[in-house]
Amino acid sequence: MADTAAKSSETYMFQYKGYNFPKDTVTPEYIDSLEDFEIRDSDVFLVTYLKSGTVWTQQIIILIHEEEGSNAAESEGSNAAESDTNLKRMPWLEYNLEGQDYNMRPSPRLFTSHLTYNLMPKMLKEKKTKVIYVARNPKDAMVSLFHFSKICTYMETAKNIGDLMEKYLSGQVVAGSWFDHVRGWYTHREQLNFLFLTYEEMIQDLRGAVLKMCHFLGKRLQDSTIDRIVEKATFKNMKNDPKANYEFLPEKAILKDNGKFLRKGTVGDWKNTLTVAQSEHFDEVYRQRMKDLPLKFVWDLN
Ligand code: A3P
Repeated sequence: MADTAAKSSETYMFQYKGYNFPKDTVTPEYIDSLEDFEIRDSDVFLVTYLKSGTVWTQQIIILIHEEEGSNAAESEGSNAAESDTNLKRMPWLEYNLEGQDYNMRPSPRLFTSHLTYNLMPKMLKEKKTKVIYVARNPKDAMVSLFHFSKICTYMETAKNIGDLMEKYLSGQVVAGSWFDHVRGWYTHREQLNFLFLTYEEMIQDLRGAVLKMCHFLGKRLQDSTIDRIVEKATFKNMKNDPKANYEFLPEKAILKDNGKFLRKGTVGDWKNTLTVAQSEHFDEVYRQRMKDLPLKFVWDLN
């Protein structure tokens, strides 16, 4: 097992263009090269700040394309074999973990990203490329990160929630600031072909969220197909789905004895974790940082 006690942020991440990348996963040169990465109209991007429901939404988008692909004879061809993991079928743009040649992937290419808007390929706003952005209550995303930091070898293990919170609120964690991430994407939404969703609305009405995504992606699927997708995207079923539960990641990335990628899958776990004083401090910073954004989230911070 890796020596987690000695981890520190400097050892585990490097800052580049206002973003914090985990060391040894990507180089500044590669990030620079993404600026000119050739985007296609048919590409689909899922963008999230980390621990906001990425692998969940990834599963839904993949299933929507899979179901559509299996029905449509005119389909241009699928991204990959159905036996491939979700990581292979919808890889991260910035972390090319499988060493794929993204330019050679058949359309429609599905991509995932945690990048901020300013680091994305320039062509994104010139194309009809669809972008689905999923946001989550940052308190829950932070608690999720707290647990994830114990299993992910690419990031500093949080000492305690208070220590993590200070770093989180000032953007000193992998992926940088939640506030900058949401602001960057939200303020550019009108220049993009953009669907904004929240983790909380997916929890509240999964079928409704799947339908929204189908509509946005221009897919008309039968009710029974939608039912099947919803079923395969439930927490319980995803946990047992070896293509979707990320237990396929190697031990050098995930310490499997310390926890699971699909941990709890609920709304409001921060209430079990933060003290009243911590929560109030978080709310205060949140109000300050968000006050000029015309964005009302479904979550209730308190
Ligand atoms: P918790 O740690 O709160 O359980 P990401 O994929 O962006 O890293 O987000 C991970 C979070 O999404 C984890 O939250 C995980 O449990 C949750 N998640 C993954 N699949 C889910 C599903 N099908 N339903 C609800 N939550 C899910």
